[in-house]
Amino acid sequence: MAPREKTKAGKADNRERLIVGLSGASGVAYGIRLLEACRDLGVESHLVMTKPAEMTIGYETALKPKQVAAKADFAYAIGDIAAPIASGSFKTKGMVIAPCSVRSMSEIATGVTTSLLTRAADVMLKERRPLILMVRETPLHLGHLRSMVALAEMGAILLPPVPAFYAAPKTLADLVDQMVGRALDLLGHEWPNVRRWGEDLAKGRRKGQEAT
Ligand SMILES: Cc1cc2nc3c(=O)[nH]c(=O)nc-3n(C[C@H](O)[C@H](O)[C@H](O)COP(=O)(O)O)c2cc1C
Repeated sequence: MAPREKTKAGKADNRERLIVGLSGASGVAYGIRLLEACRDLGVESHLVMTKPAEMTIGYETALKPKQVAAKADFAYAIGDIAAPIASGSFKTKGMVIAPCSVRSMSEIATGVTTSLLTRAADVMLKERRPLILMVRETPLHLGHLRSMVALAEMGAILLPPVPAFYAAPKTLADLVDQMVGRALDLLGHEWPNVRRWGEDLAKGRRKGQEAT
């Protein structure tokens, strides 16, 4: 897919930059919604998606990969290893891979990266920036779990998209928003679509914590 550049990828307006990666696991809706959340929050999004992610977009949504790319401020081809996000000198706040396949996760865990997605993730680790991996697979074998441990030891945050039923989701969109909001929490962003225990959810409130 051709990179979509509205403006030069410079920091003209001082907005925070977030790299959004989509790989070929089930749940591309998480990454798509994250791009929309970036728009809501005024965060500059830099998108890279794998070919299997593009296939999964076709299987799981009514969108075309180009329409997903159009939701990002900047979108890069998976093979564009010279893209700004391939370098640690290009400043970003962090990266979320949503969803993250076991294949991409395993590649990041080894440091032997073969695409812009995994290279950008490797850059996050080496620069000690937040790398949030929404790894989606089940069940998990020991090799998967060992890769997760290695990644946690390297500083990555493993955030499997596991629904929070206490948040009382009524629709799939509620469920997706809750997970996306929790990823944004980890980056210090308050996205209003998260339903918080002890705040929005009456059951979690104690005396003196009534909703305002
Ligand atoms: C519809 C569909 C759903 C898939 N779901 C998953 C999944 O949930 N987790 C996973 O690790 N791989 C899943 N795969 C397999 C990956 O797409 C495959 O391993 C691919 O090589 C991943 O490459 P990537 O990491 O470069 O995107 C799925 C494939 C398809 C077509």
